[in-house]
Amino acid sequence: MNKNIIVLAGDGIGKEVTQWGVKVLQEIADQFGHTFTFEEALIGHSAIVAEGAPLSDETIERCKKADAILLGAVGHPMYDNDPSAKVRPEQGLLKIRKELGLYSNIRPIKIFDELIGASSLKPEILRGADFLFYRELVSGIYFGRPRERFNDGNSAKDTKVYHRYEVERIARQAFDAARTRRKILHSIDKANVLESSRLWRETVQVLSTEYPDVTVTHMFVDNAAMQLIRDPLQFDVILTGNMFGDILSDEASQIAGSLGMLASASVGDKVGIYEPIHGSAPDIAGKNIANPLATILSTALMLDISFGMKEEANTVIDAVDQLLKSGYRTSDIADSTTDKNQILGTKEIGNKLLNIIKNNK
Ligand code: IPM
Ligand code: MG
Repeated sequence: MNKNIIVLAGDGIGKEVTQWGVKVLQEIADQFGHTFTFEEALIGHSAIVAEGAPLSDETIERCKKADAILLGAVGHPMYDNDPSAKVRPEQGLLKIRKELGLYSNIRPIKIFDELIGASSLKPEILRGADFLFYRELVSGIYFGRPRERFNDGNSAKDTKVYHRYEVERIARQAFDAARTRRKILHSIDKANVLESSRLWRETVQVLSTEYPDVTVTHMFVDNAAMQLIRDPLQFDVILTGNMFGDILSDEASQIAGSLGMLASASVGDKVGIYEPIHGSAPDIAGKNIANPLATILSTALMLDISFGMKEEANTVIDAVDQLLKSGYRTSDIADSTTDKNQILGTKEIGNKLLNIIKNNK
């Protein structure tokens, strides 16, 4: 198959990690007789510097025509402590999600047995954890209007709006996913307080009648935050809105050992974006210590979801598994039992992984 992939490396460690995603995809293409072409474009702070905006119209048009997008990370510390900045790197990310209609953000949380020691949680709580987030990505408080600072400068407003069709389309995806798994769905909201959450709950309740084989639990977000670390094994598919999903998925990264391991897919009806969940990590950028495995696992999601290449995707996942079994770690996933000589930099662990894929051929 021929596939055209746009690489939006973004900021900070974005370039360091996406280049390993590209190398892995290239190797997979060679092994399985596909042709993948890669085109680079800018997003985030790097786009503000070079093009004057965090995402240009030209880049959006190119992305719309691509078969898939591999994204690194966006964000730069110069904006974080400047609340008055009008142009911000994150606007590029929000815009591309909206423009491409990527309403469904899938974040798999699965602990690799070898990484149980890297988490801050107790091993006996984590072992066997395996669930998926379906986070709504193009609505809710991230996009609701109006959003403004009032004239006196002392008050500000954001708006959380959900329309029934927006809840329904992501809920349907989550139910369909649950059907292929353990058939358990938790829908997370704050229906005891928020009207938009009551609409959310009602919509999920109505849809659940079409899925009698799926067990649905409605859970308030504060309780969900607690249940996630109390007993993560109870979860199979978690369906939630934009902001709750943002927060809960960072929390859940500790269930997968490290934020450096978490991949994600953002899909709608056409082209999808595949990206690690972690941010641009400016503090470690350029030091060759970033963990490229989340990006590499994101390429596996791309192969599977956008290209329908299951075997190719499993080749990547198996290689990551093998790499971890052989003891190699980046520093974020090392623990007290890790042999110091097996703690590798970005390039070194990337090359180890590539060699595993080559040798498995
Ligand atoms: C994420 C990130 C983004 C979000 C930021 C960078 C805008 O935290 O993808 O989870 O909040 O959605
Ligand atoms: Mg986030």
